[in-house]
Amino acid sequence: MQTAVQPVTQRQTNVFVTNKEELRWVDASRPGLRLAAAHEDRDSGRFLGLLGFDPLSSSGLHQHVDIAFSYVLSGGLTDYAGTTVAGQMGINMPGATHDAIAYMPSLMASRLDGPVLYWPDPSRENAPHLHAGGRDAKFTNPKPEESPDVSITVMGIQPFPCSVGGVMRRLICDYSGTPHDFRNSALTMIPGTRVPPFRTKAPIEIFMIGGGAKINGQLALGGGFCVIEAGTQVEFSSDFGAYLIAWSEAPVEWLDGKRTDLFGF
Ligand SMILES: [Fe+2]
Repeated sequence: MQTAVQPVTQRQTNVFVTNKEELRWVDASRPGLRLAAAHEDRDSGRFLGLLGFDPLSSSGLHQHVDIAFSYVLSGGLTDYAGTTVAGQMGINMPGATHDAIAYMPSLMASRLDGPVLYWPDPSRENAPHLHAGGRDAKFTNPKPEESPDVSITVMGIQPFPCSVGGVMRRLICDYSGTPHDFRNSALTMIPGTRVPPFRTKAPIEIFMIGGGAKINGQLALGGGFCVIEAGTQVEFSSDFGAYLIAWSEAPVEWLDGKRTDLFGF
């Protein structure tokens, strides 16, 4: 009797797609605030996910220890320096110190590279801080002459020629002024785009603003997230177009030749 040897197909488990229907919303520690994490690490303060604000809800006074990104999807957030509105990326540099309030129902995609300090508030409810890894501390503003936010209209950035056909890249932030050499870029992929295969040397985090893309066979759609771990061989394509923001922590390694980096290194 002949025994057939079954091929073993190893499913790629180092690409994690969280579409909007799979996000789990939890109330944060102040009224009218909620968060839905796609990825978080409360020890390091790293976070990727959505934040929601009801009108007249506020974050409370806090200080960013590391860089923070808030891409505003609807509404806006106001602090003493002004308002960041829909379509803008609000960036808080290390040391940024403020209290932000929403006057409209507001939704944002957020990425934190480190913890956030909250001014102690005895009335605070026993629930997670709005920011992952939030911790209580007293502080002063180390750079009072600098704005606590840089607000960038993403579609207003001149797109950069990209080495991959069908992809336009807008470099939002090159992390200068932080301890990291990462890149935050927006990519537009026209329908039918096939990115040549590459391998990651460090994590890549993605928020899909509109349309959708397939990453190793998993479809990430508008309102969804994707986390790609280091050391992953990636097939990345879009059949019907995609508009996304990505945080990449090292240049990718192209598997079929030399070309410039996809995310702007
Ligand atoms: Fe903030």
